[in-house]
Amino acid sequence: MIVKIKRGDKFREYEINVDKNWTILEVLEYIKTKIDSTLTFRASCRSSICGSCAMVINGQSKLACKENISKNLINNEITIEPLKKFPVIRDLVVDDSKAYEKLKKVKPYLTPKTPPKNSEFLIKPEEVASYDKQTDCILCMACYSDCAALDVDENYLGPFQFTKTLRFINDSRDNTPLNERLDLITKEGNIFECLECQACILACPKGVTPQFDIKKLQNIALQNGYQNPNPPQNDFNSFNFGGFNEGGFF
Ligand code: SF4
Ligand code: SF4
Ligand code: FES
Repeated sequence: MIVKIKRGDKFREYEINVDKNWTILEVLEYIKTKIDSTLTFRASCRSSICGSCAMVINGQSKLACKENISKNLINNEITIEPLKKFPVIRDLVVDDSKAYEKLKKVKPYLTPKTPPKNSEFLIKPEEVASYDKQTDCILCMACYSDCAALDVDENYLGPFQFTKTLRFINDSRDNTPLNERLDLITKEGNIFECLECQACILACPKGVTPQFDIKKLQNIALQNGYQNPNPPQNDFNSFNFGGFNEGGFF
Protein backbone atom coordinates (compact mmCIF):
# COMPACT_ATOMS: atom_id res chain seq x y z
CA MET A 1 0.00 0.00 0.00
CA ILE A 2 0.98 3.65 -0.46
CA VAL A 3 1.05 6.09 2.46
CA LYS A 4 1.05 9.74 1.35
CA ILE A 5 2.23 12.11 4.07
CA LYS A 6 2.14 15.90 3.80
CA ARG A 7 5.59 17.20 4.59
CA GLY A 8 5.88 20.94 4.16
CA ASP A 9 4.34 21.98 0.84
CA LYS A 10 4.53 18.52 -0.73
CA PHE A 11 3.30 15.00 -0.20
CA ARG A 12 5.92 12.30 0.26
CA GLU A 13 4.91 8.76 -0.70
CA TYR A 14 5.98 5.63 1.16
CA GLU A 15 5.30 2.16 -0.19
CA ILE A 16 4.99 -0.33 2.65
CA ASN A 17 3.72 -3.86 3.16
CA VAL A 18 2.43 -4.31 6.71
CA ASP A 19 -0.45 -5.96 8.57
CA LYS A 20 -3.74 -4.20 7.72
CA ASN A 21 -4.76 -4.41 11.38
CA TRP A 22 -2.00 -2.03 12.39
CA THR A 23 -3.00 1.40 13.57
CA ILE A 24 -2.05 4.51 11.59
CA LEU A 25 0.29 5.38 14.45
CA GLU A 26 2.07 2.04 14.03
CA VAL A 27 2.42 2.83 10.32
CA LEU A 28 4.04 6.18 11.13
CA GLU A 29 6.37 4.54 13.66
CA TYR A 30 7.30 1.89 11.08
CA ILE A 31 8.13 4.54 8.48
CA LYS A 32 10.15 6.52 11.02
CA THR A 33 12.17 3.56 12.31
CA LYS A 34 12.61 1.59 9.04
CA ILE A 35 12.45 4.07 6.16
CA ASP A 36 12.78 7.74 7.06
CA SER A 37 13.93 8.83 10.51
CA THR A 38 13.24 12.49 9.69
CA LEU A 39 9.45 12.00 9.73
CA THR A 40 8.06 13.99 12.66
CA PHE A 41 4.76 13.47 14.51
CA ARG A 42 3.37 13.61 18.05
CA ALA A 43 2.16 10.61 20.05
CA SER A 44 2.36 9.32 23.58
CA CYS A 45 -0.26 7.03 25.17
CA ARG A 46 -1.13 4.92 22.06
CA SER A 47 -4.55 4.41 23.70
CA SER A 48 -6.80 7.38 22.75
CA ILE A 49 -6.15 9.03 26.10
CA CYS A 50 -3.52 11.76 25.76
CA GLY A 51 -4.97 13.42 22.64
CA SER A 52 -1.57 14.14 21.12
CA CYS A 53 -1.74 12.08 17.90
CA ALA A 54 -4.65 13.83 16.14
CA MET A 55 -4.02 14.40 12.45
CA VAL A 56 -5.96 14.53 9.20
CA ILE A 57 -6.44 11.06 7.71
CA ASN A 58 -8.04 11.01 4.26
CA GLY A 59 -9.36 14.53 4.84
CA GLN A 60 -10.91 14.00 8.28
CA SER A 61 -9.34 14.76 11.65
CA LYS A 62 -8.79 11.57 13.67
CA LEU A 63 -6.53 9.98 16.27
CA ALA A 64 -3.74 8.02 14.59
CA CYS A 65 -3.60 5.54 17.48
CA LYS A 66 -7.33 4.79 17.27
CA GLU A 67 -7.65 4.30 13.51
CA ASN A 68 -6.45 1.16 11.81
CA ILE A 69 -5.26 0.70 8.26
CA SER A 70 -8.08 -1.45 6.92
CA LYS A 71 -10.74 1.10 7.91
CA ASN A 72 -8.91 3.95 6.19
CA LEU A 73 -7.50 2.34 3.06
CA ILE A 74 -8.91 3.85 -0.15
CA ASN A 75 -7.68 2.29 -3.42
CA ASN A 76 -4.74 0.87 -1.46
CA GLU A 77 -3.73 4.39 -0.31
CA ILE A 78 -3.90 6.45 2.89
CA THR A 79 -3.33 10.20 2.92
CA ILE A 80 -2.10 11.82 6.13
CA GLU A 81 -1.82 15.56 6.81
CA PRO A 82 -1.32 17.79 9.85
CA LEU A 83 -4.39 19.15 11.65
CA LYS A 84 -6.14 22.01 9.86
CA LYS A 85 -6.44 25.58 11.27
CA PHE A 86 -2.96 25.51 12.88
CA PRO A 87 0.49 26.64 11.74
CA VAL A 88 2.68 23.62 11.00
CA ILE A 89 5.88 23.33 13.01
CA ARG A 90 7.17 20.33 11.11
CA ASP A 91 5.51 17.51 9.14
CA LEU A 92 2.51 16.40 11.26
CA VAL A 93 3.30 18.56 14.30
CA VAL A 94 1.29 21.77 14.62
CA ASP A 95 1.38 24.77 16.92
CA ASP A 96 -1.97 24.53 18.73
CA SER A 97 -1.26 27.33 21.21
CA LYS A 98 -3.99 29.58 19.76
CA ALA A 99 -6.67 27.00 20.58
CA TYR A 100 -5.30 26.72 24.14
CA GLU A 101 -5.39 30.52 24.47
CA LYS A 102 -9.06 30.42 23.49
CA LEU A 103 -9.67 27.63 26.01
CA LYS A 104 -8.20 29.80 28.77
CA LYS A 105 -10.64 32.57 27.82
CA VAL A 106 -13.65 30.44 28.87
CA LYS A 107 -12.18 29.68 32.34
CA PRO A 108 -12.12 25.88 31.92
CA TYR A 109 -11.84 25.13 35.60
CA LEU A 110 -13.93 24.84 38.73
CA THR A 111 -13.82 27.59 41.34
CA PRO A 112 -15.19 25.63 44.30
CA LYS A 113 -17.93 26.90 46.56
CA THR A 114 -17.56 26.27 50.28
CA PRO A 115 -18.77 22.71 50.99
CA PRO A 116 -21.74 22.23 53.36
CA LYS A 117 -20.77 22.20 57.05
CA ASN A 118 -19.48 18.81 58.27
CA SER A 119 -20.06 17.30 54.85
CA GLU A 120 -18.61 17.01 51.41
CA PHE A 121 -20.49 18.15 48.30
CA LEU A 122 -23.40 15.81 47.57
CA ILE A 123 -23.99 15.54 43.83
CA LYS A 124 -27.04 13.83 42.38
CA PRO A 125 -26.57 11.27 39.59
CA GLU A 126 -28.70 13.45 37.25
CA GLU A 127 -26.23 16.28 37.70
CA VAL A 128 -23.24 14.04 37.02
CA ALA A 129 -25.00 12.85 33.86
CA SER A 130 -25.27 16.46 32.67
CA TYR A 131 -21.48 16.83 32.43
CA ASP A 132 -20.13 13.28 32.50
CA LYS A 133 -19.65 12.98 28.73
CA GLN A 134 -18.16 16.48 28.48
CA THR A 135 -15.41 15.47 30.93
CA ASP A 136 -14.28 12.81 28.43
CA CYS A 137 -12.74 15.50 26.20
CA ILE A 138 -9.00 14.81 25.81
CA LEU A 139 -8.19 18.13 24.08
CA CYS A 140 -7.10 16.37 20.91
CA MET A 141 -8.32 19.32 18.76
CA ALA A 142 -9.87 17.10 16.07
CA CYS A 143 -13.18 18.99 16.38
CA TYR A 144 -11.40 22.33 16.15
CA SER A 145 -9.52 21.19 13.05
CA ASP A 146 -12.73 20.23 11.20
CA CYS A 147 -14.91 23.13 12.44
CA ALA A 148 -16.63 25.07 9.64
CA ALA A 149 -17.27 28.15 11.80
CA LEU A 150 -13.51 28.62 12.16
CA ASP A 151 -13.26 28.81 8.36
CA VAL A 152 -15.61 31.80 8.52
CA ASP A 153 -14.19 33.49 11.63
CA GLU A 154 -10.75 32.53 12.90
CA ASN A 155 -11.66 34.15 16.24
CA TYR A 156 -14.55 31.71 16.80
CA LEU A 157 -13.75 30.22 20.19
CA GLY A 158 -14.16 26.62 19.05
CA PRO A 159 -16.20 23.46 19.72
CA PHE A 160 -14.35 21.93 22.66
CA GLN A 161 -14.02 25.32 24.35
CA PHE A 162 -17.82 25.57 24.47
CA THR A 163 -18.14 21.98 25.66
CA LYS A 164 -15.89 22.93 28.60
CA THR A 165 -18.13 25.91 29.36
CA LEU A 166 -21.25 23.75 29.56
CA ARG A 167 -19.41 21.23 31.71
CA PHE A 168 -18.76 23.88 34.40
CA ILE A 169 -22.10 25.69 34.05
CA ASN A 170 -23.82 22.39 34.92
CA ASP A 171 -21.59 21.75 37.95
CA SER A 172 -23.34 22.92 41.15
CA ARG A 173 -19.97 23.06 42.98
CA ASP A 174 -18.74 25.87 40.72
CA ASN A 175 -18.75 29.34 42.24
CA THR A 176 -18.28 31.26 38.98
CA PRO A 177 -21.53 33.18 38.37
CA LEU A 178 -23.56 31.99 35.38
CA ASN A 179 -23.57 35.50 33.88
CA GLU A 180 -19.78 35.63 34.03
CA ARG A 181 -19.52 32.36 32.08
CA LEU A 182 -22.17 33.49 29.58
CA ASP A 183 -20.39 36.85 29.10
CA LEU A 184 -17.29 34.94 28.02
CA ILE A 185 -19.05 33.00 25.26
CA THR A 186 -21.39 35.64 23.82
CA LYS A 187 -18.89 38.22 22.61
CA GLU A 188 -16.12 37.78 20.05
CA GLY A 189 -16.19 34.33 18.41
CA ASN A 190 -19.42 33.54 20.23
CA ILE A 191 -21.72 30.50 20.44
CA PHE A 192 -24.16 31.97 17.91
CA GLU A 193 -21.53 31.71 15.14
CA CYS A 194 -21.83 27.92 15.14
CA LEU A 195 -22.95 26.75 11.68
CA GLU A 196 -24.45 23.51 13.05
CA CYS A 197 -22.51 21.43 10.53
CA GLN A 198 -21.86 18.75 13.20
CA ALA A 199 -18.34 18.13 11.89
CA CYS A 200 -17.19 18.38 15.52
CA ILE A 201 -19.46 15.48 16.49
CA LEU A 202 -18.21 13.36 13.59
CA ALA A 203 -14.58 14.13 14.42
CA CYS A 204 -14.63 13.49 18.16
CA PRO A 205 -12.89 10.21 19.04
CA LYS A 206 -14.44 10.20 22.53
CA GLY A 207 -18.11 10.57 21.60
CA VAL A 208 -18.33 14.14 22.88
CA THR A 209 -20.98 16.19 21.05
CA PRO A 210 -19.89 19.86 21.00
CA GLN A 211 -22.66 21.02 18.65
CA PHE A 212 -25.33 19.70 21.03
CA ASP A 213 -23.53 21.46 23.89
CA ILE A 214 -23.45 24.71 21.92
CA LYS A 215 -27.19 24.43 21.26
CA LYS A 216 -27.79 24.01 25.01
CA LEU A 217 -25.57 27.02 25.73
CA GLN A 218 -27.47 29.12 23.18
CA ASN A 219 -30.75 28.24 24.92
CA ILE A 220 -29.30 29.05 28.36
CA ALA A 221 -27.96 32.37 27.05
CA LEU A 222 -31.27 33.36 25.43
CA GLN A 223 -33.22 32.41 28.57
CA ASN A 224 -30.91 34.69 30.56
CA GLY A 225 -31.45 37.74 28.37
CA TYR A 226 -28.46 37.41 26.04
CA GLN A 227 -28.97 37.88 22.33
CA ASN A 228 -27.19 36.83 19.20
CA PRO A 229 -25.02 39.92 18.50
CA ASN A 230 -25.07 39.19 14.76
CA PRO A 231 -28.44 37.63 13.92
CA PRO A 232 -28.86 36.26 10.38
CA GLN A 233 -30.01 39.03 8.02
CA ASN A 234 -33.00 37.30 6.41
CA ASP A 235 -35.12 39.71 4.38
CA PHE A 236 -38.40 37.81 4.40
CA ASN A 237 -40.29 40.68 2.74
CA SER A 238 -38.38 40.31 -0.51
CA PHE A 239 -38.19 36.52 -0.42
CA ASN A 240 -40.41 34.75 -2.95
CA PHE A 241 -41.97 31.80 -1.13
CA GLY A 242 -43.88 30.70 -4.26
CA GLY A 243 -47.64 30.52 -4.60
CA PHE A 244 -50.42 30.63 -7.16
CA ASN A 245 -51.49 33.12 -9.77
CA GLU A 246 -54.11 32.76 -12.43
CA GLY A 247 -51.78 30.81 -14.67
CA GLY A 248 -50.68 28.38 -11.93
CA PHE A 249 -47.45 28.55 -9.89
CA PHE A 250 -45.29 31.64 -9.91
S1 SF4 B 1 -21.37 22.28 14.55
FE1 SF4 B 1 -20.59 24.33 15.04
S2 SF4 B 1 -18.88 23.99 16.44
FE2 SF4 B 1 -19.34 22.03 15.46
S3 SF4 B 1 -17.94 21.93 13.71
FE3 SF4 B 1 -19.86 22.80 12.96
S4 SF4 B 1 -19.62 25.01 13.12
FE4 SF4 B 1 -18.01 24.08 14.38
S1 SF4 C 1 -14.42 17.44 22.02
FE1 SF4 C 1 -13.62 15.51 21.20
S2 SF4 C 1 -12.62 16.10 19.28
FE2 SF4 C 1 -12.88 17.95 20.47
S3 SF4 C 1 -10.96 18.23 21.58
FE3 SF4 C 1 -12.38 17.11 22.94
S4 SF4 C 1 -11.95 14.95 22.56
FE4 SF4 C 1 -11.03 16.07 20.87
S1 FES D 1 -1.12 8.63 21.26
FE1 FES D 1 -2.38 9.40 22.86
S2 FES D 1 -4.28 9.75 21.90
FE2 FES D 1 -3.09 8.80 20.36
